[in-house]
Amino acid sequence: MADNASSKPRLLTGDRPTGPLHLGHLVGSLEARVESQDTHECFIIVADLHTLTTRPQKQFLDDLPRNVRDVVLDLVSAGIDPAKATIYLQSGVPAVYDLSVFLSMLIPKRRLEQIKSLKAMAVAAQLTEDAMTLGLLAYPVLQAADILMARATLVPVGQDIEEHIDVARELAMVFNDLYGEVFPLPQAKLSRTPILPGVNVGVGGTGTKMSKSLGNAIYLKDSKVDVADKLRTIDPDEKHADGQSPLLAYARAFCAPEAAADLARDFDAGKVTGSALHDAVLQSIEARLEPIRQRRSELDSETGLVEEILVDGTIRARTVANRTLQDVRTAMGFESMWSAFVDATSERAKARKRPY
Ligand code: TRP
Repeated sequence: MADNASSKPRLLTGDRPTGPLHLGHLVGSLEARVESQDTHECFIIVADLHTLTTRPQKQFLDDLPRNVRDVVLDLVSAGIDPAKATIYLQSGVPAVYDLSVFLSMLIPKRRLEQIKSLKAMAVAAQLTEDAMTLGLLAYPVLQAADILMARATLVPVGQDIEEHIDVARELAMVFNDLYGEVFPLPQAKLSRTPILPGVNVGVGGTGTKMSKSLGNAIYLKDSKVDVADKLRTIDPDEKHADGQSPLLAYARAFCAPEAAADLARDFDAGKVTGSALHDAVLQSIEARLEPIRQRRSELDSETGLVEEILVDGTIRARTVANRTLQDVRTAMGFESMWSAFVDATSERAKARKRPY
């Protein structure tokens, strides 16, 4: 791609800034992003516009600056290197709004009405079907604008929103068919780690995946004591209907594979007590969290650093987005229409010997 100075394939992914990131993010996506930094040109979006789809109220907007900062701090602490990856603020790239309008003309609203994840988001936000906004229905269209704007080909996402990437690919194909090849076709990449269950705190408990809105999360920024307290809310003997133990799910996510298998076997055989199982899992979690916590406090104490990382990345994303928007407007004929109107206007100014 013309604006892709590096020869590496471009990857785009990110999060809505609804609060700090947690262990589910770490094993589900953050560690994979860190690994991708050397093989891909990575764009990491902080999708603040997408938070409006279910929470447009002023009180939530007031929380954005703190939440955005928290997310950037978590990303960098977890190992995203701002010298390699572009971490950017979605609302700071206005070209994405323009592209979103063009794309919205190319998809039947029925296609969007059939997407289950959007109804699930409405339910999670306690919105009735009637209260579902046009913006929520268009969530995948805005997401397609993010992806296509960067001409990303690889989009790591959770399985729950895999269909959004199908929409982005469909939109790219329809656009290219109508106006000429502008967009490479994006592909979703699903996380290989199974979804991490929550802890027994908040309304979610261990029965659902770890989630900020359900209150059952262990955050990357939690202290060692808080992590231990939250983990101990999980009863080692607890089993879900499918026979899975939530505590062993943590063992699988955080211990080495053989160690996790040994723990499961020895706990079942009564050779390892529940409390020893807690301790072993906790130790593996802490081995991951301690360096993150350390970096987090270093970064946090440098005044303005987190902000500078986000501003740098957003300016870079803007350059890429403006280039794509230019190509889109040219392909659709808006650029030549506008130039022709401007040219005629300057001809007239010339003829009457007075500048416009
Ligand atoms: N929808 C993502 C989330 O659930 C955030 C997001 C917005 C995104 N635009 C994106 C992810 C583009 C991948 C690609 O938080």
